[in-house]
Amino acid sequence: MSGIPDHWKWFNEARFGLFVHWGPYAAYGRGEQVLFRERLDQRDYEARACRWNPQKFDATAWADVAKQAGMKYAVLTTRHHDGFCLWDSKFTDYTSAAQAPRRDFVREYVEAFRAAGLRVGLYYSMIDWRVPAAFEGPEHDPRGWAAFREYVHHQVRELLTHYGRIDVMWFDGAWPETSRQWGSHELVQTMRSLQPHLLINNRLGRDEDDPAGTGGQSRSLGDFSTPEHRIVEDPHRLWESCDVSTSRLWGYAKGERWRPADVLLDKLVECASKGGNLLLNVGPTGDGEFPSEFVAITDAIGKWMRLHGECISGSERGEVCEFITHGRQIRKGSNLYLVVRFWDGTGALTLAGLETTVTRAVLLTTGSELRFKQTTDHLAIEGLPEKSPTDLFPVIRLECDGPPKARPWAVDRLWKGDPRRMTAWAAQRGKTVWVGR
Ligand code: GLC
Repeated sequence: MSGIPDHWKWFNEARFGLFVHWGPYAAYGRGEQVLFRERLDQRDYEARACRWNPQKFDATAWADVAKQAGMKYAVLTTRHHDGFCLWDSKFTDYTSAAQAPRRDFVREYVEAFRAAGLRVGLYYSMIDWRVPAAFEGPEHDPRGWAAFREYVHHQVRELLTHYGRIDVMWFDGAWPETSRQWGSHELVQTMRSLQPHLLINNRLGRDEDDPAGTGGQSRSLGDFSTPEHRIVEDPHRLWESCDVSTSRLWGYAKGERWRPADVLLDKLVECASKGGNLLLNVGPTGDGEFPSEFVAITDAIGKWMRLHGECISGSERGEVCEFITHGRQIRKGSNLYLVVRFWDGTGALTLAGLETTVTRAVLLTTGSELRFKQTTDHLAIEGLPEKSPTDLFPVIRLECDGPPKARPWAVDRLWKGDPRRMTAWAAQRGKTVWVGR
């Protein structure tokens, strides 16, 4: 994507961020939406939330995990749909500052992450499941809605006023109301005047003409789009795919099944190859710690990133030619990176369809230079180790004499594009169905 303003370039360079879903729900160990899903008694939930007092929360320890994983930014749930605020809000006492912990967790988070050199983002749920008007909506309870909406606007202003420079504002929970009903246009103006460099996501309420408006997402408002559990490029703006490191829920759940490091790394590589970011989630425990499984997974990814991170940060959109048999391709300047997901142990690898001249090939994983032969349609790389040099994905850096480009026939993949581009190739052996005629 061209034309990205300077103050947003960091986001397009970053590619990898940490999403943290944390609040009183963590103590239940049944995900972030336990209140609604299980139709819990509102008073009981509130009483328990007010007593919630995580003793092991250490923002510096969280920031260390993110940093060593190669993540460049983070987004923390300052308030999820249950309405509990992790900062010292003066518009409610349902906060970690006014209740048992007597701590402003948002302040601790922004300070620790900034100190670690990471950019900071704040997730804020527009809906609040404690408030009847939030369910009634503006049509059935116009006065209640107006008051609730004002509360939301006040809190957003508060978050962008008292915590220094915030890099990302990440909304959620706007469904099913429109961005007009939420006053999102005014809210965006206010946010821009408070923090002109801020990146704002697209979940600011659906557009008027888009009844489906999946998850309260707006096409017209927002600086980046947020496909969830999926990797979908947005041709018109920056994008970030958010996903769980577990199986389904975002908040801490007991008995989780964790996705292995290679599955998660592949998501990051896919985002990078398509020119977008991965915001990878963790749900810390009720006591405030990252589950040990997450620490082990991000540790493995971090080790990989230290050797291969140059192909992730600042990657450009679009694979060049066919590579599905071996893995994925990432483009960056005059380099084409081959991320080999499937190491076949043959010692050789052939890439078809690269037009640009390769000047040097390096196995990034070991730093060793590789032999290769390039003909019109094929690049044959030799001398690869039989055994994969890493448990995750080895990467080959092809240095080219210009930005890597595909041969005309290879621009489109199998079953796509104009089939006639392949006629001359088929005709190499003649025209009949008989052998050798
Ligand atoms: C979904 C979930 C919500 C979570 C969000 C993160 O909307 O319902 O709980 O916070 O995804 O993108």
